[in-house]
Amino acid sequence: MAAQTTLFESIGRIQPHVRPILGRLTLGLFSALGASVVALAVPQVLRELVNGALHRGGDPAQLWAAAAAVLGLGMLEAGFIALRRQFVINPATTVETGMRVAFYRHLQDLPVAFHDRWGSGQLLSRSMSDLNLIRRWLAFGALMLVVCALTTVIGVALMFASSWQLALVFLAAAIPVVIFGFRFRTSYRVVSRLSQDQAGDLATAVEESVQGIRVLKAFGRGSEALESFSNQAEELRRTEIVKARTLATFALAVTLIPELALGLALVVGVLTVADGQLTVGAVVAFFATAAVVAGPVEALGPLMGMTLTAKTAIDRHFDVMDETSTILDPPPGRELIPETGSGALDFRGVHFRYPDAHAGTRDVLNGVDLHVRPGETMALVGVTGSGKSTLLQLVPRLYDTTAGEVAVDGADVRGLPLEALRTRVAVAFEDTTLFSSSVRDNVLLGAPDQTEEALDEALDVAQAHFAYSLPDGVDTLIGEAGLSLSGGQRQRLALARAIAARPGVLVLDDPLSALDVNTEERVEERLREVLADTTTLIVAHRPSTVQLADRVALLEEGRISAVGTHEELLAGNAHYRYVLASLTDEPEDLDSADEEEALA
Ligand SMILES: Nc1ncnc2c1ncn2[C@@H]1O[C@H](COP(=O)(O)OP(=O)(O)OP(=O)(O)O)[C@@H](O)[C@H]1O
Ligand SMILES: [Mg+2]
Repeated sequence: MAAQTTLFESIGRIQPHVRPILGRLTLGLFSALGASVVALAVPQVLRELVNGALHRGGDPAQLWAAAAAVLGLGMLEAGFIALRRQFVINPATTVETGMRVAFYRHLQDLPVAFHDRWGSGQLLSRSMSDLNLIRRWLAFGALMLVVCALTTVIGVALMFASSWQLALVFLAAAIPVVIFGFRFRTSYRVVSRLSQDQAGDLATAVEESVQGIRVLKAFGRGSEALESFSNQAEELRRTEIVKARTLATFALAVTLIPELALGLALVVGVLTVADGQLTVGAVVAFFATAAVVAGPVEALGPLMGMTLTAKTAIDRHFDVMDETSTILDPPPGRELIPETGSGALDFRGVHFRYPDAHAGTRDVLNGVDLHVRPGETMALVGVTGSGKSTLLQLVPRLYDTTAGEVAVDGADVRGLPLEALRTRVAVAFEDTTLFSSSVRDNVLLGAPDQTEEALDEALDVAQAHFAYSLPDGVDTLIGEAGLSLSGGQRQRLALARAIAARPGVLVLDDPLSALDVNTEERVEERLREVLADTTTLIVAHRPSTVQLADRVALLEEGRISAVGTHEELLAGNAHYRYVLASLTDEPEDLDSADEEEALA
């Protein structure tokens, strides 16, 4: 979490977003001020009226003039208020959108390690409700806070002009209000931060249980999930009540104390008029001004609350924006030139540990040395948890090594521009994520300008012909908002996605685990044909996959303990035999392209 910042420091941080709309915001401010000044002018007309026309022997024509003045002022005030809205609403939405897009872009740039640490709901609430709060504050809260404060100051000055004795009585009330204000600020800031954080956690809880709804249902855990959720929701409710109570107490003080002072001022006023030290008109103007000022004074409490909430929202926004990515493009001019298209993949003395790993534990990767020859298919084998997936993620720089280097085409991956690297390397992960869009878009994700033939070829290599028999063929919407696919179907689309990108280096994390052996063999065969000169590193969980590779690397205790052909390792390596024996040839979720074809 970011260090504590003051209110003004926090607000100052959105300045770059606000600068383009500063002109309109200022116009809005002046309109709002105009409305207030006009409202404050009405009591001045009243004073003239009371002291003039209403006085014995006054001129009745003055009455009409005064009435016309009041009417005119009223219309002017309404006009100013309409202007303020006009000036401010649009620009504030621009700021909101600008900040939201910047936030999203930053989320895309942040490394996977960041996303490991942050709950999705926290990011969701920061990108939606916090920015919404900031917008509302900019369009209304900020402006009105300034206007109300200024109106109060001008009003009090006018009250002094009417009668300094009465104004002093009124002003005395400011002292306790200011003291309350400071206390309020401290406690409200804490509780408002708590409530916004809790709302984020709650969003995470909703997200997770919606994602995991099948598991929750299947294990009959719905009611436990509900209970834990309602506890969390209850906690948020309690925080909200504390928040509302804090605000209410302050608002009460801000309203009540000035009213008390006014009561006192009334007594003093009547006595001074009786003494002849003050005109009736002055007392009327004083109280009429006080009535106008009462509105802004009462609004100060809620506006302060809104401002503090917006500060919290800004802080929460920048908690994320301040996170920096260490996985960056090389500095301009320092890029390494890869040996063009060599296709070699090298791991040299690679160490890796996850940032949140417990102290004292061994690095997940503890000095990996491996050379995958250009065009070669290398299988990676190791017991579960040995770090196979971790090793693969280092290639497209989803994480960076803690020590040592990964080289693609002979160049350290950190020396290649990220886009170039990620175009060169394609990956299919263990958990196949598909997006809510068409089959076509999902498959061509890594190569949006590929042709129809490339799509067909990728689907063919991955034996994903089923896509053509979906309701709308390759344009069928899949993913969360569309059709649900089987595990094996998803896996084959993810594989097609990796292939369609036409990579020089293909990294596959057990992409065939849900396929039956025959389909797997066909995929492998086609892969060899189409990607003959593609260097492939493939995690294998099944002997059948291993047999299709040129060579096999054995990952053991964070190192590559042996490299060789399947037969060599089988003959000479006990650990390899042990790992292989523990791998089954029967996938858990059998998925056969043959059956689909038979059914189609
Ligand atoms: N995001 C992460 N943060 C912290 N630790 C992790 C993370 N992902 C994996 N690990 C740890 O790193 C180790 C290696 O995990 P990895 O996923 O690389 O294993 P694997 O060889 O792919 O296993 P499997 O065969 O089951 O897929 C494990 O001990 C795991 O707990
Ligand atoms: Mg794995």
